[in-house]
Amino acid sequence: MRALESLTSRRLVLVTGKGGVGKSVLSAAVGLSLHRRGRRILVVEVDPRESVHQMLGLEPSGGDLLTVEEGLHLQNLQPRTVLDRLVSDQVRFEWLAERVRRSPVYHHFVEGAPGLKELAVLGHCLLLVKGEMEGAPEIDTVVLDAPATGHGVSLLAAPSLVSEVIRHGPFGRMSGELAQFVSDPEEAGVVVVTLAEEMPVTEALELRSMLLEKAGRAPELLVVNGLYPAVPKGARPDSSGIDRLWRDRRRVNERELSRLTEAWPGEQVELPQLPLSRGPELVQALAERLERLSGAAVGAEA
Ligand SMILES: Nc1ncnc2c1ncn2[C@@H]1O[C@H](COP(=O)(O)OP(=O)(O)OP(=O)(O)O)[C@@H](O)[C@H]1O
Ligand SMILES: [Mg+2]
Repeated sequence: MRALESLTSRRLVLVTGKGGVGKSVLSAAVGLSLHRRGRRILVVEVDPRESVHQMLGLEPSGGDLLTVEEGLHLQNLQPRTVLDRLVSDQVRFEWLAERVRRSPVYHHFVEGAPGLKELAVLGHCLLLVKGEMEGAPEIDTVVLDAPATGHGVSLLAAPSLVSEVIRHGPFGRMSGELAQFVSDPEEAGVVVVTLAEEMPVTEALELRSMLLEKAGRAPELLVVNGLYPAVPKGARPDSSGIDRLWRDRRRVNERELSRLTEAWPGEQVELPQLPLSRGPELVQALAERLERLSGAAVGAEA
């Protein structure tokens, strides 16, 4: 089964990769593709620099859950906000909750406890796909735009690390449930994004090893983004800087693509660098290519 098709039934799809390779635009594109296959999607961005709203044509939300169209939503999520809300849920009086939130002990705990922010983000996603978040729309799949390579791995590794240390109480139960959720290949999938350039490819390969080692799973799909167009056979070089730049970048792309062909055993999809700026048109164009290349053509479902 092609990767995008197999991701269609997951409840969590994590999009990760090196900084600046196109994770946010691909999160929006994967979300749109899965939505076109009938899934009710929430794209969650964990980054204070909101950008996914722009990819889907909305104004920044400041953390609210926004609707692009029926069954396609997005949210910019700050782990601290999720944890603050947890305090309000647990402490009955708002004045007391406010005192807890303002206390230095709470601040140190939130900033310092390993795995806590990751658990908060995943816990939020799990509540949504289980339909247990009051007032939220029905969501089948959360597409999670993870902030950077290291965070992607720790998002998947944190629940089992925490559940090994804390086994009892609500926190132990929550981390145990999340550990099961993220390690179950029928529930959660991983998409790695890279450019066909030396450093991003090296990082993508390291990310694959780290995922295997720390989270016990391989990514379902590698997206090689931002490829320069191939130089047509027989096209003579001219002396312009643009021509040299194009040939040089494409040569790097080809070298890195063959490195990936040798070293990456899973499915790969190649996407071009498009002459479109950040926004819905770019997301649509990339989503269409993803669907074509990864076997998830709209209407192809039985
Ligand atoms: N295939 C593409 N064609 C044209 N522009 C692209 C393509 N992929 C990404 N971009 C542009 O590149 C820029 C970086 O993409 P994006 O913000 O998705 O990267 P990111 O991995 O999320 O970055 P960060 O690590 O900073 O969050 C954006 O302006 C986006 O519009
Ligand atoms: Mg981003």
